[in-house]
Amino acid sequence: MSDYVLVTGGAGYIGSHSVLALMEAGYNPIVLDNFSNSSKESITGIGKIYGNTPIVIEGDVGNSSLVMDIFSNYDVNSVLHFSGLKSVEESMADPLKYYIENVGSSLSLLRTMQAASIHTIIFSSSATVYDPESQVPYTENSPTNPINPYGHTKLCIEQILQGLVSSNPKWRVGILRYFNPVGAHPSGHIGEDPKQTPNNLMPLLMQTAIGRKEKLLIFGDDYDTPDGTCIRDYIHVLDLARGHLSALSYLERHQGLHIWNLGTGTGTSIKELVDKVREVTGVEIKTEITSRRLGDSSKAVADPEKAKSELSWHPEYSIGNMCADHWNWQRQNPDGYQ
Ligand SMILES: NC(=O)c1ccc[n+]([C@@H]2O[C@H](COP(=O)([O-])OP(=O)(O)OC[C@H]3O[C@@H](n4cnc5c(N)ncnc54)[C@H](O)[C@@H]3O)[C@@H](O)[C@H]2O)c1
Repeated sequence: MSDYVLVTGGAGYIGSHSVLALMEAGYNPIVLDNFSNSSKESITGIGKIYGNTPIVIEGDVGNSSLVMDIFSNYDVNSVLHFSGLKSVEESMADPLKYYIENVGSSLSLLRTMQAASIHTIIFSSSATVYDPESQVPYTENSPTNPINPYGHTKLCIEQILQGLVSSNPKWRVGILRYFNPVGAHPSGHIGEDPKQTPNNLMPLLMQTAIGRKEKLLIFGDDYDTPDGTCIRDYIHVLDLARGHLSALSYLERHQGLHIWNLGTGTGTSIKELVDKVREVTGVEIKTEITSRRLGDSSKAVADPEKAKSELSWHPEYSIGNMCADHWNWQRQNPDGYQ
């Protein structure tokens, strides 16, 4: 098999860590990114760690002639599809933007792949596809019922991929449902750098610890959980990146569509995460309890057994490692990549 892999959104948070993992494993990733939510500094960061930078093409994944040019110029055999918009809140305010960007661009990418006879793709899906009323931990067979447009775009793309696989057995599709990615490469050269105000807990916590925010708002402490705050399944971005390599290797041996949860299987409450960040950073983080946020479910935890058994993938990092690596990145880059 050829070792060129097109990585859409490869300059972003999860993409950049996965590009590094691909390079370390001997693949030749080609990053296609429009830098709408990332910085070229992430590519420089990869170079500092690996000693070499990947091929980078600046452009939009929805630009089919550009994508076809890439397929004509390089012997690409597979695609890791990270690009897309990811804010649940923004998707509720502007759903059409999310359908156009996420579903529209994916359709264009898939059509170009089909025209170029490239049939292997790994898609970044999300735990938001599950029905929040379902019993945790979620298995890949748990009912789906996304409650916001972002999650719905992810499920739409999953269903489009299912249709493709049914139409042509040549397709090899991996759907990775990520839980809550956190952490950074321990070097501090690449990490999460949200361009807008983050909605996710870890970047908000880190910005509070570094002094960019005065306090952390906790949205509700009256949930049906032991300490009343929401429980999530945090997973180190390096474990996620390795999951993509395992999935790619699985698809080299198996046709069809395969869905895997990527989470640790362990839930951590907001209060527990705040305490862990206080311990790791030594900073007394101010918090304030406020009312519940629309669309937050009380618990979202993965059952990762399918990924463990089929992919021989096991998460290696503890919640303490995740906080320490995220803090190391934040301390070395208090204002992000700028
Ligand atoms: N981070 C999370 O919490 C999380 C959880 C579950 C799923 N996901 C999914 O994983 C993927 C990667 O997430 P991330 O956290 O690395 O996000 P990110 O925003 O850091 O990375 C996405 C990258 O895609 C690029 N991009 C966006 N639209 C593009 C387009 N039309 N053409 C080319 N490039 C484009 C952005 O510039 C960015 O570099 C996304 O699809 C996201 O929905 C993320």
